[in-house]
Amino acid sequence: MCGIVGYIGEKPVYDILINGLKKLEYRGYDSAGVMIYNNELLIKKSKGKVSNLENLFSNKKDKKGTIGIGHTRWATHGPPNQVNSHPHVSNSGEISLVHNGIIENYDSIKKILLKKGYTFSSDTDSEVLVNLIEDIKKSKKIKLGKAVYYALKQVVGAYAIVAFDSTNPKELVGARLGSPLAIGVGESEYYFGSDATPFLEFTKRCVYLNDNEMVIVNLKKGLTLREIKKDSIIDPYVQELKQDIEDVEKGGYEHFMLKEIFEQPQSITDTFRGRLISPDEKISISSLKRHYETFSSANRIIFISCGTSWHSSLLGEYFFEELLRIPVEVEYASEFRYRNPVINKGDIVIPISQSGETADTLAAIKMAKEKGAFLYGICNVVGSSIARETHTGVYTHAGSEIGVASTKAFSCQISLLLLMGLALGEKLGTIDKKRYQRILNELYELPKTIEKVLKSNSLIESISENYLEAANFLYLGRGYHFPIALEGALKLKEISYIHAEGYPAAEMKHGPIALIDENMPVVVIATKKGNYHKVVSNIMEIKARGGKIIAVVSEGDEEIEQLADHIIEIPNCDELIAPILANIPLQLLSYHIANKKGCDIDQPRNLAKSVTVE
Ligand code: G6P
Repeated sequence: MCGIVGYIGEKPVYDILINGLKKLEYRGYDSAGVMIYNNELLIKKSKGKVSNLENLFSNKKDKKGTIGIGHTRWATHGPPNQVNSHPHVSNSGEISLVHNGIIENYDSIKKILLKKGYTFSSDTDSEVLVNLIEDIKKSKKIKLGKAVYYALKQVVGAYAIVAFDSTNPKELVGARLGSPLAIGVGESEYYFGSDATPFLEFTKRCVYLNDNEMVIVNLKKGLTLREIKKDSIIDPYVQELKQDIEDVEKGGYEHFMLKEIFEQPQSITDTFRGRLISPDEKISISSLKRHYETFSSANRIIFISCGTSWHSSLLGEYFFEELLRIPVEVEYASEFRYRNPVINKGDIVIPISQSGETADTLAAIKMAKEKGAFLYGICNVVGSSIARETHTGVYTHAGSEIGVASTKAFSCQISLLLLMGLALGEKLGTIDKKRYQRILNELYELPKTIEKVLKSNSLIESISENYLEAANFLYLGRGYHFPIALEGALKLKEISYIHAEGYPAAEMKHGPIALIDENMPVVVIATKKGNYHKVVSNIMEIKARGGKIIAVVSEGDEEIEQLADHIIEIPNCDELIAPILANIPLQLLSYHIANKKGCDIDQPRNLAKSVTVE
């Protein structure tokens, strides 16, 4: 959701900005723009892809300059069009600004500025902010940094911004509250990015801004970091990043999503690294070890999250209640934060997030913290806001996930949840020893088992051919497979725009069965064990009504083979491992349907990878 890039130094800025924006495309956007300073401000913006923006630079002269800012916009205030795109420029033409977030009190500020004679050409809150900065700068006769500081004291909402003043073209000013901003520190040069990917190839030295911090990078004076609330200068913490640029490139795959699906064995290996060393050794998750006491005396565990991470949370509930015998609740962060939930000391709140930046999850964490809960975060992006706001937690280490539709991050989340459940269950004595060992053995082998599942790729691709015209899909699963049915339906919706619903298989009779006819494909997850025979009955009910059945079954299943139109086999395994495996064919099914329909798989319309506004 909105991407920010910026550069100040001696290199030509055009390629840095354009390539940086392309690296942030995965965040989701509908228009793009850049400002390049070369003794005067040049602003170019366009609706649609970054490639449209590039087409506006036919004149080589326009590309000259070594200072600039850029933006990909995901529309909030006003439709996606050229005027609403960023950068926005102040009335005098001196200050330009890119902004990710929402200024909630922009309307009242706008009214004041209108009375002072300011005019506005866009519908955006960001244009109000750049003019507020200008108004303060001119009336107080101060520099850009101070003006940004005073302006931010007046605004309510969320922001990551980068601003430039052409009357002092040696510096850029950035700030954050609620939306991410990273600064790459090079030799006499500085980069800005919504994350580090735009500048990874140039520098691995990075400062992540915290909420209420602002930064001034000046070619002569260097980097100054300031806490806005306390108005104090602070020492920047410069991190050495370990990520590689290859992590954020497609590596020969047609789409990031496909690459990330195939990376899952490696990602899960990385999730388990140092934690599951061998099935004969104890599971070692250091943050859990430090807090076994907290978990053993917990009254309740509450998972909070959004989107795919919410589906992980639901499976987390099933795993934890089974293995720990502690009551678990699962909440949408966006609901939880606004509904005055009962939270007591002794409650453990576990936020789950790939990006670690989802605005609703972040706000829910802050609320739960204020009410005295212990916050244990599960995040993928190292150093993200959620990782910093929680008391402790664990990283999934899935690697960079670029495809908007989450795949490997989800698999790593649920694998990690099962590993945590086993570690805690063993410690609390709530799991039978033999069962513990059996599941642990299978978890250890999980990367290899997933390799086997991935071999169904071409079979799934051929199955997908039959469903390109489908308008609806139903996904059914029971027990541990219910969250997977929800996730399978979400994946299809997200990237193919086919309407899909996930349902607990037994609930089908209470409504969705009315929809079943020969035009309704139904994906059923029906592996052996658990409620297998009950799901077979559901399959019969679908067949009796002419529905098309795609079944994910255990290897060697002959019963469902007779009933279903298509079967996809996964290896026989424990019922707690089965959902992790069953999810993979559903990812591939969505991918192939969307790809054959010609959809924009890595950047589906209207979606954002990291939802940094509520
Ligand atoms: C967006 C993404 C989803 C993701 C959700 C939660 O909607 O498109 O893929 O599941 O946000 O994101 P998080 O980063 O908190 O897991």
